Amino acid sequence: MKGVVLAGGLGTRLYPLTYATNKHLLPVYNRPMVFYPVQTLVNAGIKEILLVVSGPHSGDFIHVLKNGKEFGINHLEYAYQEKPDGGIADALSLAEDFADGGPLAVILGDNTTDTDVSQAVKSFKEGAVVFLKKVSDPTRFGIAEFDPKDPKKIIGIEEKPKKPKSEYAVTGLYIYDNAVFDYIRKCDPNYAGRGELEITQVNNFYIDDGKMRWEELDGYWLDAGTYDTLLRANLYWAKKAGFTS
Ligand code: DAU
Repeated sequence: MKGVVLAGGLGTRLYPLTYATNKHLLPVYNRPMVFYPVQTLVNAGIKEILLVVSGPHSGDFIHVLKNGKEFGINHLEYAYQEKPDGGIADALSLAEDFADGGPLAVILGDNTTDTDVSQAVKSFKEGAVVFLKKVSDPTRFGIAEFDPKDPKKIIGIEEKPKKPKSEYAVTGLYIYDNAVFDYIRKCDPNYAGRGELEITQVNNFYIDDGKMRWEELDGYWLDAGTYDTLLRANLYWAKKAGFTS
């Protein structure tokens, strides 16, 4: 399976840190943030990766990831999202040629995790898979709703709900079959009122068509897109590498 890392957007939640560089190039302990999602895909056995970038510092990624050989990637491709904050689904739409009719493992560029999704990648056949994680701050994420009669059945996802219907966040790690591009074409930029093509709408299309599965993400996971989570991600990876203060 091929993989996609979405590293567009403007990182406005991290201003002033992101005035002079891209969020995904900020340090998470001893590596730029984008190394972590790339490594997650590589650990899952993925050797062909597309990196989607946008915004004023897009050119800087090439100095950092080069041609991907240091990760053991056979093929690293770059795509440029014209509308820098067009939304996650807009960024993913750029992967259609790269996917070449096949499925994709997709990860957001600010997600750092030590989970191993190689089994899910290997056994994937069709539809979509989302990886959920229990969180203490569910108003910050896409949150799963389960069928009260069948608590394992996901019946919807709400983006940043004021009154979350569960504590299970949709992490920024997904597997999609090629139908994802048809679903993206059906997305409405006003879906969540922020002018973006939302991945949550795409996921809800899969759920409505009965084609979504979910797995609970094992181990550590954080999106490092806020000051607090960026700090926590730094501390986690520093400690894992043996750092003690
Ligand atoms: O991290 C998990 C959460 O990520 C999910 O629970 C939400 O359902 C999902 O919408 C997303 O929420 P965020 O508000 O955290 O997304 P954010 O706008 O911060 O974008 C996350 C990453 O997606 C960003 O680091 C790069 C990529 N992205 C984002 C936008 C808006 C793009 O590549 N292009 C974009 O236009």
